[in-house]
Amino acid sequence: MLQKFSAFPGVAGPVVVIVMDGYGIPKNDAGSAIAAARKPTLDKLFAECPHITLRAHGTAVGMPSDDDMGNSEVGHNAIGAGQVYAQGAALVANAIADGAIWAGEAWKEIVAGAKAGVNGKEGALHFIGLFSDGNVHSHIDHLKAMVAQAKVEGVKTVRIHALLDGRDVPETSALEYVVPFEAFLTEISTDGFDARIASGGGRQYITMDRYDANWPMVEKGWKTHVLGEGPQFANATDAVNGLRERNPGTIDQDLPEFVIADGGKPIGTIEDGDSVVFYNFRGDRAIEITRAFVEADFDKFDRVRAPKVTYAGMLQYDGDLQLPKRFLVAPPAIKDTSGEWFSKMGLAQFACSETQKFGHVTYFWNGNRSGKFDGETWQEVPSDVVPFEQRPWMKAAEIADAMIAAVKSGQYKVLRCNFANGDMVGHTGNFRAATMAVEAVDLALARLLPAIEAAGGVALITADHGNADEMFELDKKTKQPAQNKDGSFKAKTAHTLNPVPLVLFDKVTGGKLGLKQTETAGLSNIAATVANLVGLEKHAKWDDSVLEVK
Ligand code: 3PG
Ligand code: CO
Repeated sequence: MLQKFSAFPGVAGPVVVIVMDGYGIPKNDAGSAIAAARKPTLDKLFAECPHITLRAHGTAVGMPSDDDMGNSEVGHNAIGAGQVYAQGAALVANAIADGAIWAGEAWKEIVAGAKAGVNGKEGALHFIGLFSDGNVHSHIDHLKAMVAQAKVEGVKTVRIHALLDGRDVPETSALEYVVPFEAFLTEISTDGFDARIASGGGRQYITMDRYDANWPMVEKGWKTHVLGEGPQFANATDAVNGLRERNPGTIDQDLPEFVIADGGKPIGTIEDGDSVVFYNFRGDRAIEITRAFVEADFDKFDRVRAPKVTYAGMLQYDGDLQLPKRFLVAPPAIKDTSGEWFSKMGLAQFACSETQKFGHVTYFWNGNRSGKFDGETWQEVPSDVVPFEQRPWMKAAEIADAMIAAVKSGQYKVLRCNFANGDMVGHTGNFRAATMAVEAVDLALARLLPAIEAAGGVALITADHGNADEMFELDKKTKQPAQNKDGSFKAKTAHTLNPVPLVLFDKVTGGKLGLKQTETAGLSNIAATVANLVGLEKHAKWDDSVLEVK
């Protein structure tokens, strides 16, 4: 059990953690939609309340290196668990480097499955996943290593289903990955080995939906990868060029599907006796397509044909549902999360976000588990299914409504929510919409914070990583926004490496509390800080609290 915190008895009311997704603190304001936004509530918070900055990228959140930006998975894992684990990106890279991945049962079964095939005919080995080096959901180097190893182990046919990124990497960078990779595949396709890209499309258009927001997207992916339905091209380089011509102005993540065909016949439909590896290590956008492959009684869309394949995820994506059962690398064993321990202490907890980030405050927060701990209440506000630059306010108002009601109810001691706006609109690369996104969050805070104060509570306002803070690619040398030939700025859709704020909104203790800035302060210090605010010592495994009691 957690001990009582000796320095402070805890606030009388609730303790609320508010995550402003994608809200970083940039080095300079050029290109920051946050700086450009009109945000009186946030300005006042920063002027009047104790605040520090937290590290939200790189090794501080379990990424392989400090060149890796943060993301919502690792960010919410660190906030919820109060600890930093080596995350999927690092675990997979290590398993490939030391060869442990090839020695594992799952890889052996994948190779054996394809080689055995069906009815005396060898199967193909398919790899489906995000085709970039963003290192948020996947890394193309992992794919490359697996293709090479498949050849070494005697697999004859490899087919790749490439989801174009443009969201964790520059918005029109697809060919920087496709061209060299197709060259690599041609080079390695000797001695009876045949590896080609077989299908693909923009990641926000097919396959990579999350949290049940848009199943038709996954259905489109299934039809593309499995059934081979879609506009045909001779190779993936032609496909990207052709789709761009047909869809001017469309960035990679939104490009439609494509199928590679020889003489009108798709080269890589997925058939009985094949093996399939979904090579993303991150789970949120991997779960739905995985369900379509592994669930016998799948009913989210008509699969038309459900091939009998040997299927593996790069990681196991959901520990509670054991989804999928076969996985190449063991996921981080995230234990003793704040959700679990506050539950054990009998504290009622409330979690809320809109669909796009709902799993962030539930599944990621609780260590990639889909189940609830005792005493947890979760509320999902359904997200619109629209491009978010068209609705930058998203569901900030409705989330504020739900949080205000939960705070007023007096039923919950610890509450958490996520405002998706800065991130989801930041990912569109639309600067004007991103300023409105920040303004919508500001309006929501203007309503929520007084309700917390009235209930005798306090709030920690923070973010999981940056995004809206840098809406233009920065020139590597000058650190100023880079310009296109026509003088316009190069839009940036990815997250940033900037730190995030931690603000303590406390109008109830008479200025007794502050926050300590330490050199290493990061997202994993939040759980212990919440514990202290409710009057408890942290769990021994959690990183230190940054609460200062004067
Ligand atoms: C996405 O999945 O939308 C992006 O790759 C990462 O965004 P998130 O980490 O903020 O969810
Ligand atoms: Co994001």
